[in-house]
Amino acid sequence: MAELYNQEIFKDEHIVVTGGGTGLGRAMAMRFATLGASVTICGRREEPLLETAREIKDNGGKAEGISCNIKEAEAVEAMIVEAENRQGNVTKLVNNAAGNFLAPTEQLTPNGFDAIVKTNLYGSFYATQACGRRWIERKHAGSVMSIVTTYAEHGSAFLVPSAVSKAGIIALMKSLAAEWGVYGIRLNAIAPGPFPTEGANSRLMPDERLAEKMYKLIPLQRVGEHDELTDMAVFLLSDLSSYLTGEVIYLDGGASLTSAGQFNLFTELPREKVMQMFESLRPPKK
Ligand code: HXC
Repeated sequence: MAELYNQEIFKDEHIVVTGGGTGLGRAMAMRFATLGASVTICGRREEPLLETAREIKDNGGKAEGISCNIKEAEAVEAMIVEAENRQGNVTKLVNNAAGNFLAPTEQLTPNGFDAIVKTNLYGSFYATQACGRRWIERKHAGSVMSIVTTYAEHGSAFLVPSAVSKAGIIALMKSLAAEWGVYGIRLNAIAPGPFPTEGANSRLMPDERLAEKMYKLIPLQRVGEHDELTDMAVFLLSDLSSYLTGEVIYLDGGASLTSAGQFNLFTELPREKVMQMFESLRPPKK
């Protein structure tokens, strides 16, 4: 997609990326900066924030890292105030910060549930509200993009706090698309399939063979490249998608389709064998 738009598409933008120090957040922040944006990344750990901000600056971009625990409303508000003091009005937001772990639900503690839901859902709400309030007052048609997951809509075993919170984020994006459309504010989401990152893999993939098995079920037969996600993020945040709001884009190589269709498992067999099987089931010609 890189050739399809102006390479300075984000020239006058100040984009906040929550959780932007590592993983997909880092990839998005770096991409936005190459397209002219001033980027503010926030997260709990200062070290990766400063490291990512430094790398963006070394490449000629504009970036600031601000420590913030997005589970706390006051901390999010303070982070936005600080971001604007350093780089001017925030014009776009990416809700990316997320926690996750695998656990049997009957063993989850209230604290464990809170740790994920507060980070993912409350954090996205606080950041979206802090930006939206400002944009409405300033008559600025900002845009928000949230990272959710494909299992937010149909649920997932062993990932209940994540599924619940990401489903809440989708409801938040759609509700505010309806409520704030009148101000020109757009809110969309990306539901990524497997885009391996250190953070997600170390917590969610206990066995490499299991990962291989999961990846084989993807119709496009591979995991996603970070550039493919950042392309979609640019599209959703920018005027390239100016008539799109309240939408969730499944960016998963078709993975969610294969886990839904009962007969999709036939795609695992050689196509010739499948054809033979289908032929054998056909009633004889009259
Ligand atoms: C069971 C756990 C746990 C685990 C934490 N807890 N990890 N319970 N299994 N693996 C419980 C603790 O016991 C505690 O409850 C409570 O959660 C809070 O734990 P803390 O460590 O104090 O919490 P905190 O420091 O807030 O951080 C925990 C965390 C964090 C949010 C889980 O470690 C984390 O997830 N970081 C991940 C960052 C990251 O990589 N995100 C990308 C996610 S990828 P008690 O009751 O004992 O006090 C993603 C993509 C999904 O989501 C799509 C895949 C296809």
